Amino acid sequence: MHRKINIAIDGPAASGKSAAAYLLAKKINYQFMDTGIIYRSFTNYCLKNKIDFENQDLVLSALQLFDMKWVNGHFLFNDQPSTEEIYNKNVTSKVPLIATLVEVRKLIVAKIQEIVQNQGFIVVGRDISSVVLPNAQLKIFLTSSLHIRSERRYQQYLKEGISITQEQVYNDMVIRDNIDKTRSTGQLVIVKDAIILDNSDFILATTVAKLKILYDNYFISHKK
Ligand code: CDP
Ligand code: CDP
Repeated sequence: MHRKINIAIDGPAASGKSAAAYLLAKKINYQFMDTGIIYRSFTNYCLKNKIDFENQDLVLSALQLFDMKWVNGHFLFNDQPSTEEIYNKNVTSKVPLIATLVEVRKLIVAKIQEIVQNQGFIVVGRDISSVVLPNAQLKIFLTSSLHIRSERRYQQYLKEGISITQEQVYNDMVIRDNIDKTRSTGQLVIVKDAIILDNSDFILATTVAKLKILYDNYFISHKK
């Protein structure tokens, strides 16, 4: 059996990061952490408490009251598991406002780093390789074409019974890609030591198999 390492997976929306990382984690017996859940859950908390998203001080005060724990491989926020609500349109459209606040990001990053002190995690997000776990042994930038990503997200919405047009999904994706890449903090970048995997032409099982090969290759090239 391999010794445990940490794996960072970054990439744009709907590139398949969480679906593939979840399955890989099961295969190799790692903990899977989707950091998007934190930004979404905190945005939902702010919406519920009518916090002014433009006012960083108010958002920071709200963050002090937003407790985050990692218990048995899942987040608990104020002692409650996250809900499907965090994927609704309202949260999705507001989360970039929270995710661009520098001081908010600092606290969230510190919290994730506190949780991921040991090895054996696959952490998924936008700034994992660059900011959260710059020492992760394996860094992967998982991507797919904009067309494929918006099609995948559209199919996800259809399955969940969410009424939205394909054009809306595409346009939202363009806006979110742009915010993710251009915000001044925690932006989506490809770090120098990342391995780029474009899975536009792969079904999910193929993406997982390719990730597993990258994982196995790491140990072949880092034999002690
Ligand atoms: O999969 P999707 O892009 O819809 O969303 P997500 O990965 O759940 O992330 C939700 C939001 O949180 C996005 O707007 C990301 O930019 C942001 N995010 C972030 O800023 N940093 C992370 N490490 C993870 C997510
Ligand atoms: O986490 P991220 O936003 O990167 O994407 P995701 O939520 O894991 O994937 C978006 C959708 O694409 C999910 O329904 C996945 O099952 C699907 N997917 C796919 O059809 N083929 C792939 N190779 C990867 C993901």
